[in-house]
Amino acid sequence: MKILYAASEAAPFIKVGGLGDVAGALPKALCRAGDDVRVILPFYSAIPQHLKEQCTYRTNFYFNNAWRSQYCGIFEAEIDGVTYYLLDNQYYFDRPEIYGAFDDGERFAFFSRGVLECLPLIGFYPDILHCNDWHTALIPVLLDTQFRNRPGYGGIRTVFTIHNIEFQGKFDPYILGNVFGLSEDIKPILYYGDCINLMKGAIECSNRVTTVSRRYAEEIMSPPKSCGLEHILQARYWKVSGILNGIDTELFDPETDRRIAQNYNVDSLSLKIKNKNALQTELGLPVTNSVPLYGMVTRLTHQKGLDLITAKLDWLASQEVQVIILGTGDAKYEQFLREAAGRHPGNLRVCLAFDGDLAQRIYAGCDFFIMPSEFEPCGLAQMIAMRYGTLPIVHTTGGLADTVIPYNPEDKTGRGITFQSFHPEDFSNALWRALELFHNKPHFTKARKNAMEGDYSWGPSVAAYQALYREI
Ligand code: GLC
Repeated sequence: MKILYAASEAAPFIKVGGLGDVAGALPKALCRAGDDVRVILPFYSAIPQHLKEQCTYRTNFYFNNAWRSQYCGIFEAEIDGVTYYLLDNQYYFDRPEIYGAFDDGERFAFFSRGVLECLPLIGFYPDILHCNDWHTALIPVLLDTQFRNRPGYGGIRTVFTIHNIEFQGKFDPYILGNVFGLSEDIKPILYYGDCINLMKGAIECSNRVTTVSRRYAEEIMSPPKSCGLEHILQARYWKVSGILNGIDTELFDPETDRRIAQNYNVDSLSLKIKNKNALQTELGLPVTNSVPLYGMVTRLTHQKGLDLITAKLDWLASQEVQVIILGTGDAKYEQFLREAAGRHPGNLRVCLAFDGDLAQRIYAGCDFFIMPSEFEPCGLAQMIAMRYGTLPIVHTTGGLADTVIPYNPEDKTGRGITFQSFHPEDFSNALWRALELFHNKPHFTKARKNAMEGDYSWGPSVAAYQALYREI
């Protein structure tokens, strides 16, 4: 089967969040399973030079993004058996930031239209066009309203994946004609509430809608997690499903990971302590195994549960524990963490940075991984933590609920610690239960082994996507 996977970010080229990881890993896994999957993304100037050098210029053409005639260069690369197409336009993509510009609507409309316009030039008419999040949500709409009658486009089927329903691509109605180049009669497809809503249009026009976990697929059917789209989704529930993300189990393997102090596997779990000690040394914390080390690697936003951290970090740091938090994000949370670190110099470390290598040392070196997200469509960090035998402490929501089975000392099953309500007391209770588990060594070790033995690979999801593609 021929699949074109369109995304605003894809590792290794460019990665801002989990979408980039997924757009890097899923097409690779699908290719290995035998399908012809190609990825298309914008050619941002922020792509690292060594990767730009792997891209070959193929051709260029002009097309109209509404009334604006725009240049579009096509670059091509092959990495790990996957073909990538990168659409070039310096006016739109030579920016320091990937997202957040005043004209994001126009930038991603250019990209979306470019994806459809370039098919004859790349000579690839896919069976399936798989779009992701609001940046590519215009593609299924344009396909149905402006491209269907062109030769080669008639049979293309579309899948739209929601990685985060919070960002829907909402714009003032004037954008319809002026920027998207769509006529007024398309308005009912894209109009929702009092504005143009791209995600709503994609949900209507796509053959299938998926989200990145089963639980999230259920959650977005009603408020508040639906972020206003419940009526649209409920009316089309038959085409909505949840397929859990995986992680790259080769990249995230404690047995071979070169970024950590000591490699280990489930049979040599006792060696993991060397990573804890190395991390304590690096952070200037007392080197000891008599207290648990809690870690957190996150974007500092409300989604990730930072309000619970704000409420309970001082309490946690006043226990016999050590804590390391790594991340960047909203200024108010950064400020809080900076001050909190000042209040607890003996056992709390805060690193306000984006540091992939330190993240890895945290996954390997900690005893517990804190992830109290208010909502979490899938979440990748909890799976990485479990693969490294670090027990996640999570709010039972979305993909966290689907992947973190709470440890049950009765039958010794489960691989983490969960709390049900997004409330500071429920959260601190979970942190406390973790502390108790740490001091109950046989159970602690069993829970860690369970975590390490879990299957977090793309295998089951690849099969689910293949079945979905074939069905439509
Ligand atoms: C978004 C979601 C996250 C998910 C990721 C990849 O970043 O917030 O939960 O894991 O997309 O699908």
